[in-house]
Amino acid sequence: MRDFVRAQRAAGEQDFETLFRRTLQFSIGAEAGGMNAPPPAAPVPFLFHGTEVRMDLTAREHVWRDLVATEVMRVIRADADVVAELGSGWSANIFNLWLRGAPRAARYFGGEFAQGGREAAQALAETRPAMQFAAPAFDWSFPDFSFLPPTAKNLTLYSCYSIEQIPELKADCIRELLARTASAATVLGVFIEPVGWQFPEQSSDPGLVERTRRYAHEKNYNLNLRQVMETLANERRLEILGVAVDVFGYDLNPATVIHWRRL
Ligand SMILES: C[S@@+](CC[C@H](N)C(=O)[O-])C[C@H]1O[C@@H](n2cnc3c(N)ncnc32)[C@H](O)[C@@H]1O
Repeated sequence: MRDFVRAQRAAGEQDFETLFRRTLQFSIGAEAGGMNAPPPAAPVPFLFHGTEVRMDLTAREHVWRDLVATEVMRVIRADADVVAELGSGWSANIFNLWLRGAPRAARYFGGEFAQGGREAAQALAETRPAMQFAAPAFDWSFPDFSFLPPTAKNLTLYSCYSIEQIPELKADCIRELLARTASAATVLGVFIEPVGWQFPEQSSDPGLVERTRRYAHEKNYNLNLRQVMETLANERRLEILGVAVDVFGYDLNPATVIHWRRL
């Protein structure tokens, strides 16, 4: 991703929207610079509230990113001063938030494990200097939240398929996150992760629950996010505002959306 963004910039592309679209297409293996025509012969599947629809690959990526942005926007106040994604890759979600009108005065952080992802994000963000963006190193296994400004008043913190990568998330990780932001007036969050099978009683599709449970175990994906969130809720550190199970996404691992706020 980093090499792609850098090569585009070296070739003269300095327009943020164009660079974002090309990078998004590159990230899904679609023709990066082209017009995406003719459409692919085989549309790809997308699950939306239990119904599978088929659509063009690039269209699916745009739909996916906009659904993610919608869920994050629910917990971004107009006066937010910090919006941070934890495990952000090349920060496609953050850039899409910006394109969808997220608060201009906020500082944006794409905390990411992989150096290449951080560098790709930084190279892309440089084409939109009005956006206050930084891409700090971040690892759920050894979390260091010191990049979050201690003076921030209203924060939004979220993840999108990065807790997925951590089979057993430590509750202390989220305790530390809440401790770092203890002096803020509001801390709102959303975890968008493929953990619907951890809430089997909320699913109307036992087949999907079994399929996604098996997939998470096979891939060594997260097995305990529900447990962590409920532990912290029982400790009165946070309130779970809502859990929407398997609402949208790819057929093997659709998204479950957990909105929360710090108490
Ligand atoms: C499926 S990608 C999602 C990226 C991004 N959130 C998005 O939606 O485009 C998973 C991300 O988790 C990151 N990741 C893997 N291990 C991690 C860890 N220990 N801590 C933080 N992020 C990690 C990967 O580098 C990758 O960027």
